[in-house]
Amino acid sequence: MILKSGYLLHHLQKKYYPYSIEKVNISHKWDILKLQQEIIHTLPSKDIYYPLTEEELDDIFNGQGLILGVFVENTLIGVRVVSYWDEETKNLGRLVGIKDNELNQLVFFEATIILKPYQGNKLQKLMIDLASKEIKKLNTFKYFISTVSPFNYASLKSLLNTGFYIRKLVWIYENTPRYILFKRYDQEKIFHDENFQSNKRFLIDDFSSQRLHFDKGYRGINLIKKQHASILEMIL
Ligand SMILES: CC(C)(COP(=O)(O)OP(=O)(O)OC[C@H]1O[C@@H](n2cnc3c(N)ncnc32)[C@H](O)[C@@H]1OP(=O)(O)O)[C@@H](O)C(=O)NCCC(=O)NCCS
Repeated sequence: MILKSGYLLHHLQKKYYPYSIEKVNISHKWDILKLQQEIIHTLPSKDIYYPLTEEELDDIFNGQGLILGVFVENTLIGVRVVSYWDEETKNLGRLVGIKDNELNQLVFFEATIILKPYQGNKLQKLMIDLASKEIKKLNTFKYFISTVSPFNYASLKSLLNTGFYIRKLVWIYENTPRYILFKRYDQEKIFHDENFQSNKRFLIDDFSSQRLHFDKGYRGINLIKKQHASILEMIL
């Protein structure tokens, strides 16, 4: 079933192509792994994306998650991967203080990957919105969680735009820094338009100041792009 269709700009060819988004199944597993390989080669740094494994995809297709695919002319050009009930999701939940009896209500928005020439079309936000709608239909989940590298501007920016906020900074995935982002399933950009007096701004790589403030209960809510670095805005 097609969840959404429209036109996408191919940035190199400066041409629009028709696309469709639908749920994918195990028959797409190798296409997903191939797409992931292609995208990894175009990343500015290998540290900003921790690849999905074949086993993870098998678990998801066996009922522990959901994957949406974007197709252009029958070719997969992007996916959004969501998982639940697996140990990784539960461990992340524990890190942000979800109680044991609620860990089964947690959904891990694991990754969006989009082929480079189609990046910048706001597909990640669209896929998060579509995946959220599918998840809400299950009537089982209460919390959404995600992890993103502080240096992955595109991913952070689009997650913050869908109502996620940053709750913590940790070192995971072979000791690389990751923000843990969080939102309640029904939360929509609740922080963005309000005037908080306690705003603090830190350079994106000023991890010690950020951690100090996360420990005091501050949340990261916005990313401001400057010429040489990004700035994280935090509120209490
Ligand atoms: C991260 C990713 C999914 C973002 O998806 P997207 O839908 O293309 O992003 P958006 O169109 O919403 O853009 C978000 C912001 O990033 C910028 N951006 C998007 N693609 C970009 C690119 N290739 N290079 C630089 N900036 C980019 C946009 O200009 C926008 O910034 P702005 O709001 O300041 O204008 C996509 O870039 C991607 O697949 N990256 C490689 C894999 C990856 O890192 N995945 C995330 C792991 S969790």
